[in-house]
This record gives sequence, C-alpha cells and structure tokens, in this order.
Amino acid sequence: MKKICIVGSLNTDIIMQTKKFPTRGENTVGQNAVVLSGGKGGNAATAVCRLGKEPVLISSVGMDYYGDTMLTDLTESGIDVSYIKRTPLSHTGLTTIIIDESAERTMVVAPGANMQLTAEDIADHAHEIQQCGVLLVQLEVAEEAVIQAMKLAKESGLLVIIDPAPAEGITMQAIRYADILIPNEQETKHMTGIEVNSLDDALQAAEYFQLLGIEKSIIKMGHRGALVYTPSKWQFIEAVPVDAVDTVVGDTFSGALACSLAEGNDLFQAAWFATIVSALKVTRLGPRDGIPTMAEVEAFMKARNLQQPY
Ligand SMILES: Nc1ncnc2c1ncn2[C@@H]1O[C@H](COP(=O)(O)OP(=O)(O)OP(=O)(O)O)[C@@H](O)[C@H]1O
Ligand SMILES: [Mg+2]
Repeated sequence: MKKICIVGSLNTDIIMQTKKFPTRGENTVGQNAVVLSGGKGGNAATAVCRLGKEPVLISSVGMDYYGDTMLTDLTESGIDVSYIKRTPLSHTGLTTIIIDESAERTMVVAPGANMQLTAEDIADHAHEIQQCGVLLVQLEVAEEAVIQAMKLAKESGLLVIIDPAPAEGITMQAIRYADILIPNEQETKHMTGIEVNSLDDALQAAEYFQLLGIEKSIIKMGHRGALVYTPSKWQFIEAVPVDAVDTVVGDTFSGALACSLAEGNDLFQAAWFATIVSALKVTRLGPRDGIPTMAEVEAFMKARNLQQPY
C-alpha cells in the first residue's frame, strides 16, 4: 500500500470564546478557552491515519513547549514524527482564534517554525517521498519547501494535490507542478476573481484554471458540495445533508481525497469518498478530534445507504 506524503503546517491553536468581539485596544473577559494541536498538515495527516493509510508528514516545529506537545499528540495519533524538523530559529507555529457569540472566527496566525522548512529539508527526505503514491501540499509552510516537494514528486511519478490555502500565499510558481487544485469558494475568488454562487460560476473558474495549465480541479462549495472538473468530464457532487456542528473540514476532505487516489481510484470516485468523510466530520466537534475513522465512515455509508455512483 502506497503511503501519502504531506508537506504542511503544524500550528498550536489557542481558541477563546467571547460573547462580544473586543474593539481595538479593549480588554475583554472570555467565556472559555482551549489549546489544541492543529495546522493543515497535521490535520490532514490525522485524517489519513484515521482512514487507515500511512502518512509521511514533513514539517517543522520549534524547540519549545508547544513543539514537544505537538510531537506527543501526533505520535499518540499514530503519526511517524521522524520527518518533522525541530528548529532553534523560531517558535512553533501558533494560531490565536477568537470565536464570538455569532460563531464567527477571527484568527491571527504566527507561522514561526513552518517558515523554516527548507528545500534542503525536502531533499533530505527524497527517498521517503519517492516511496509515496500521492503528495498533498498547502501553503502554510515556506514556499521553497513546497515547490521542491512538488518538483521531486512530479519527477518521481506521484500524483500532486495542492490545497491553495491560504489564498494570499498562492503564486503561479507554486501551482505549476500540481496535478489537482482543490480551492474553496474564497480561494477560487482570490485566484480567478470569480464569485462562486452557482455551478456555472464554478465551471467558469475550473475552465480558467485549465487555461492556466491546471487541467483537474475540485471547486469546494461548502454545504452545497463540490465541482469535480477534468478536461473530458465534469461532475457536481452534492454534499450529504447532515446536521453540521463544526464546519472546519478542508483538511479532512484533502486527506480523504489523497487516500482514495492512492488506492488507484479516479478523481470522481475519490471526491465522492472525500464528500462522505467530510459530511461525517462536520457532524462532530473539533478540527482534529472530529475526524472519523474508516470503520465509522463505513457505518455511516451503510446507515445512509450511500453507494459509489461512479
Ligand atoms: N455543512 C456541510 N454538510 C455536509 N457536507 C459539508 C458541509 N460543509 C462542507 N461539506 C463537505 O466538505 C467539502 C469541503 O468543504 P468546504 O468547501 O467548506 O472546504 P474548505 O472551505 O476548504 O474547508 P474549511 O471551511 O474547513 O476551510 C464540501 O465540498 C462538502 O462536500
Ligand atoms: Mg469552507
């Protein structure tokens, strides 16, 4: 079974709930606080593990308390941490998230050690990368590392998926080596200028990506579903209707997509699987804790009578 390589971020999330979002300069007393190990790379690797596949997670943390905790948490989740660098040059990535009464999230990310991942670090793990079937990258780590990983993966015949988050980090340099681009509505708007409100808008955006040289894309449209686009065929995959309690789901979607592609399924089959896993995820709390296991996904499919349509 081919492994899945993930070059992505590790961030400690410091989440605070407050009734009213503070105005500039104001001090407010919060209602609740929690500190969680997060980051897009770590979350996607957790999804891969829970779905029964083995991730090769390449990332970087600081030599601080948060770095120690991060590695312990990843190890407890069954993730091999031997490809994670510890750098004395910066702190472990930190995200401060403030959630107000309307459930709106306001965030500040200090990427720290994530930006210390270098092209040489990637080259040091060339052998492990070459053993994988799929490479998944996002843009929360240093661009030189992302580009080096994508180049190496392309040369070695891996399928390369890029989740262009955060959208501000995207450059043509970075997407050139991708086989499959998986933006959400905001990232699509940022990259194409197209506001995605309908299937037609999504199709227009996918055609725009094709003109840029990215033939395959999945335009994720939240609770509506996703457009899966290839030059010869496209399909809109509707989301599975569920009672959502936590819609942070992007890394679960990309992890599940990578798992299915690594098994040799085509893009439509893989996106359908990712749609099912994502629906189950949004019914559970926690960006990482809420990610379902393969057994739970199979039970959900059975209970809902969901059968592979492609
Ligand atoms: N409320 C929901 N109910 C069911 N499925 C959902 C819901 N929200 C998202 N999904 C599924 O997850 C997929 C990805 O969601 P979304 O488009 O929000 O990605 P994202 O914006 O990258 O993730 P995030 O919002 O975590 O950044 C959707 O295409 C859909 O299949
Ligand atoms: Mg979203």
